[in-house]
Amino acid sequence: MSLNQQPWVEKYRPRHLKDVVGQKEIIKRLQVFTGPSGKSMPHLMFAGPAGTGKTTCALALIRDMFGSKMKRNATYLELNASDARGIGVIRTDVKDFAKTQPPEGVPFKILVLDEADSTTADAQQALRRTMENYTHNCRFILICNYSNKIILPIQSRTSMFRFSPLSKEEIVGRINYIASNEKIQIEPEAIEALIYVVNGDLRRAVNYLQAAASLGEKITEELVYRITGKINPQEIQHLLKAALSREFMIAKRKLDTLFKQYGLSGRNIIKQCHQEIFNLDISERAKVDILKILAEFEFRLSQGATEEIQLNAMLAKLAIMDL
Ligand SMILES: Nc1ncnc2c1ncn2[C@@H]1O[C@H](COP(=O)(O)OP(=O)(O)OP(=O)(O)O)[C@@H](O)[C@H]1O
Ligand SMILES: [Mg+2]
Repeated sequence: MSLNQQPWVEKYRPRHLKDVVGQKEIIKRLQVFTGPSGKSMPHLMFAGPAGTGKTTCALALIRDMFGSKMKRNATYLELNASDARGIGVIRTDVKDFAKTQPPEGVPFKILVLDEADSTTADAQQALRRTMENYTHNCRFILICNYSNKIILPIQSRTSMFRFSPLSKEEIVGRINYIASNEKIQIEPEAIEALIYVVNGDLRRAVNYLQAAASLGEKITEELVYRITGKINPQEIQHLLKAALSREFMIAKRKLDTLFKQYGLSGRNIIKQCHQEIFNLDISERAKVDILKILAEFEFRLSQGATEEIQLNAMLAKLAIMDL
């Protein structure tokens, strides 16, 4: 494998809507716009968590719609609102693109505004006027993580598409596809580990897979946890179980090795404990109490308290809980 190869997230970015993983309802609705009954579409808004296919779908939609006429600056433009920063770009770049007529044979141009939720309310007002004034020339695809950060007048002028985190099966399918294409070996446990650490974000899954593969060994569970800087959830379970069964010293030693071995911050460890509580076989009431304890110590760390002292105190508190 060469070092200067393309990042896999780009290499394996689906080029057509039909190749996108998951998001089935969204794909069906988008395909209506590119379908045989004519090419038309309203302004669109794509909202949802990172790495779930929003930018991918916008570009694939444009490609499916325009085919060989897909040309940057001519038929479409992709801007990132967060590096474009504020109202200036909305007044200049966006407006300049939107107000000129589409080239021959193209019904309208498409402007993709990524990270639209990072713009100010003023910039969004300007954007709204541009969207209204030049609808006949240009349709907008606004992309954001949180739709509630977009002003209501824009929300009501767009068709909303809500992207969901990808399911376990969808991510497994994609990882296996890439692994076999790249001829890399990956243990089933390593795939499980990837699923655990990425939380439905396929971009991170693909990035970690490439990072692990670049080491040139068979990809194991340990390797995945090592490169992602997460603790194997089983070890967190051991830690919690020891504390809850009042074996304080065992829990403390476990914690010490986790600190040393993984070099993680206390807040990371608490975060993973938080994730694992839900998988423990204890009463609902006990889970509620533990969650309150974790929140308390996470807050203390956020105020700059000493990690080791606080985490030990947290284990101590867990060890005297009534289960
Ligand atoms: N649904 C998907 N199907 C196939 N690949 C995907 C999908 N979602 C993400 N990917 C992979 O992750 C990469 C990044 O996806 P994309 O840029 O579409 O994410 P996004 O939803 O726009 O995230 P962000 O909010 O961080 O911009 C893609 O290039 C692709 O490799
Ligand atoms: Mg994106």
